[in-house]
Amino acid sequence: MKALAFLCILFATTLKVKPLLHLSLSSSSSSSSSSPTSPQRSDDPQHQQSYDFYSQSCPLAEQIVRQSTQFLFATDARTAPQLLRLLFHDCFVQGCDGSVLLEENIEGGRTERDAIPNQTLKGFDKIDFIKDLLEEACPGIVSCADVLVLAAREGVVLTGGPFYPVFTGRKDSTRSYYETAVEEIPSPNHNVSTTLMRFASKGFSPRETVSLLGAHNVGSIDCDFIKNRILNFSGTGLPDPSIPTDFLIELATNCSDTSGSRLVSDSTSTTTTNTAIPYYQALSPLLASGNTFGTHYYGALLRGRGLLFSDQQLMYDRKTTKLVEAYASDDGFTFKRDFARVMMKLSSLSGSVVSDQGSPRLQCSRLN
Ligand code: HEM
Ligand SMILES: *[C@@H]1O[C@H](CO)[C@@H](O)[C@H](O)[C@H]1NC(C)=O
Ligand SMILES: *[C@@H]1O[C@H](CO)[C@@H](O)[C@H](O)[C@H]1NC(C)=O
Ligand SMILES: *[C@@H]1O[C@H](CO)[C@@H](O)[C@H](O)[C@H]1NC(C)=O
Ligand SMILES: *[C@@H]1O[C@H](CO)[C@@H](O)[C@H](O)[C@H]1NC(C)=O
Repeated sequence: MKALAFLCILFATTLKVKPLLHLSLSSSSSSSSSSPTSPQRSDDPQHQQSYDFYSQSCPLAEQIVRQSTQFLFATDARTAPQLLRLLFHDCFVQGCDGSVLLEENIEGGRTERDAIPNQTLKGFDKIDFIKDLLEEACPGIVSCADVLVLAAREGVVLTGGPFYPVFTGRKDSTRSYYETAVEEIPSPNHNVSTTLMRFASKGFSPRETVSLLGAHNVGSIDCDFIKNRILNFSGTGLPDPSIPTDFLIELATNCSDTSGSRLVSDSTSTTTTNTAIPYYQALSPLLASGNTFGTHYYGALLRGRGLLFSDQQLMYDRKTTKLVEAYASDDGFTFKRDFARVMMKLSSLSGSVVSDQGSPRLQCSRLN
C-alpha cells in the first residue's frame, strides 16, 4: 500500500518533469523512438538492448526508477552506495543479469547471496521497493537487472557523481552463480597484481580498474574487513607495516567499539557510526551537486590512508600509482569522466551463459 500511494504521487508529479534522459541523450537517442531496438548490441542477438528500451512498453519506467531512488535516498542516504556495490557484484559475476538478487536457484543449491561477500551486501529491500512500483505501473515488463543498473546510476548522481547513459533491455537470470561469485569477486586481501588480474579477466584495463575502485569514495566499510590489518596482518600478529602510525591509531580507536563499527569512506566526516553515514547529512537529498562524490579516495591513498588493504595496494604498482596521482590532482573532472565511462562498461557486462536468461522476474529475489 505504501508503494501504491507513492506511485500516485509519482504519476501526479511526473507529467511536469521533463525526463533527464531525453535531455542528455537527445542526439544519440533520436532514432531510438522510431526503432526501439536501435542502437542494439550487434554482437549478441540475445541482448536486444537499447537506450530507453521501455519507451513503448513502459514509458515511465526510467522516471519511476529515478524518482523512487530519489525518495529512498532522501529517507536513507546509504541507499546510493548500497546499490552501487550491489551493481558491481551483479555485473561482475556472469554479467548484469539480476542474479545477485536471487534467493533461490533454478536447480536449487546456493546462490550468490550465500557467497562470502554476501554477508555485507545491502539494499535488496530498496530494489524490491522500486520493483514493486514498476509492477504496479507495467506488470512483468521491466527486468530486475535493469532496475539495478538504473537505480545504481541514479544513486551515483544523487551523491554528486556523474550521470552516464545506460542501455536497458537486460534479461533476468534464472540462475545464481555461487561458485563463480566465490572465485571471481575480488578480495580486500588481494595485492595489486591479483586485483588487476581479476579486473582484466572482465576486460578492464588498469586505468579502468583504478577509476572503478573510486566507487569507494562513497559509503562505508565494516571494521571486520580491516581488523586483520590492525591486529594480525597476514598472520604475523602485528599490524600491516604499510599503515602510517597515526592512521593505525585512528583505525584502532574507531574500530575498538566491538558492536559492529563502520568506517566512513569520506575523510571529511567527523564521526564513525554503525547507524548512519554522517557526511551525507549535510547534503540536501535531492541536490545532485557534489559535496560527497569526489576524489578524496585517491587523496587518502596518496597519504597511505586507504581503508582496505586492496585499496592501499594501488600505491604499490608504478602504473596504478600514476593514475591515483592523476585522479587526485585536479578538481575531480578526470576521475568523474573516467568513472562515467567505466560505469557504462560495468553496466553493460554480459554473461557467457545466455540460456539462463529469461523474462523479467516479478519479484527480484524469486524465480517466476
Ligand atoms: C578490489 C575490488 C574491490 C574490493 C576488494 C571491494 C571490497 C569491498 C568491501 C570489503 C566493502 C565493505 C562492505 C561492508 O562493510 O559492508 C566494500 C564496500 C563498497 N564497495 Fe567495494 N570492493 C571492490 C570494488 C568495488 C567496485 C568496483 C565498486 C563499484 C563500482 C565497489 C563499490 C563499493 C561501495 C559503493 C561500497 C560501500 C557500500 C556501503 O556503504 O554499503 N567496490 N567494498
Ligand atoms: C550468507 O551465506 C551464509 C552461508 O554461506 C549464510 O549462512 C548467511 O545467512 C548468508 N547471509 C545473508 C545475509 O544472506
Ligand atoms: C600477489 O598475490 C599472489 C597470490 O597470492 C602472489 O602469487 C603474488 O606473488 C603476489 N604478488 C606480489 C607482487 O606480491
Ligand atoms: C594471527 O593469525 C594467525 C594465522 O591466521 C593465527 O595462527 C594467530 O593465532 C593469530 N594471532 C593472533 C594474536 O591472533
Ligand atoms: C575515526 O573517528 C574520527 C573521530 O570520530 C573521525 O574524525 C575519523 O574520520 C574516523 N576515521 C575513519 C578512518 O573512519
